[in-house]
Amino acid sequence: MAARLLSGHEAAEAVYAELKARLQGLPFTPFLRVLRLGEDPASVAYVRLKDKRARALGYRSQVEVYPEDFPEEALLRRIQELNADSEVDGILVQLPLPRHIRPERVLEAIDPLKDVDGFHPLNVGRLWSGGEGLFPCTPLGVVRLLKHYGVDLKGKEAVIIGRSNIVGKPLAALLLREDATVTLAHSKTEALQEVARRAEVLVVAAGRPHLVGKDWVRPGAIVVDVGINRVGEKLLGDVHPEVAEVASALTPVPGGVGPMTVAMLMHNTLKAALLRRHGASS
Ligand code: GUN
Repeated sequence: MAARLLSGHEAAEAVYAELKARLQGLPFTPFLRVLRLGEDPASVAYVRLKDKRARALGYRSQVEVYPEDFPEEALLRRIQELNADSEVDGILVQLPLPRHIRPERVLEAIDPLKDVDGFHPLNVGRLWSGGEGLFPCTPLGVVRLLKHYGVDLKGKEAVIIGRSNIVGKPLAALLLREDATVTLAHSKTEALQEVARRAEVLVVAAGRPHLVGKDWVRPGAIVVDVGINRVGEKLLGDVHPEVAEVASALTPVPGGVGPMTVAMLMHNTLKAALLRRHGASS
């Protein structure tokens, strides 16, 4: 039996419909500011997508582009200005940053109430301690995608492969908040394939093209592929397409988690606007 394909485009459209309805009665327009340094082609493409989507929703959106050698101190000063600007709801600095810039200094400079990426240590702490805050977009997108397709995570055996600050670690926290039983595996995990085979929900965010083959997957498992690997002309996920033969559901690459990341950035931008004005998001 072939796995059901979990479309991120479909689930993202549902998020946009919900956001449009919530925007209707609001006396303000959410304002997103995206900062990009240098001309990394993937970053250029991602930032364009974010800006386009924000405008399509009716948000205000402005992208600021700085040269690759833009000084760290100047970037920190610019963030302080945006923090102090009462019109600005969300600030996002596209990663990766040039090597001379310390990402932790930049991420910690952003006002936690405007931190639509959810990377500030205060938001990380709130995520793990169960509080209200802004949480990272890709993990939020994974959970929203699963919920859109009716996956009940409560008590489920979830395995994540990949322990990045952007995906694996925050996803572990979010899945715990959904009452899943979570294993956070990574490149040093012993018997990784056997660990993966325990999963009822397997999320792969390892950044290694086609790492997970069908022998890694428990029959009937739900598999989420967060990988986007450029190999020559092709975009490959971390999951081999043969996994569709054993999984009950699988996200495509592209068109799975990718669209959900942008959708949850829009969700976070509205949430930030509401948090800053009312101290609550709904
Ligand atoms: N680069 C890759 N993913 C992300 C993300 O979620 N946020 C930012 N700011 N940069 C990224």
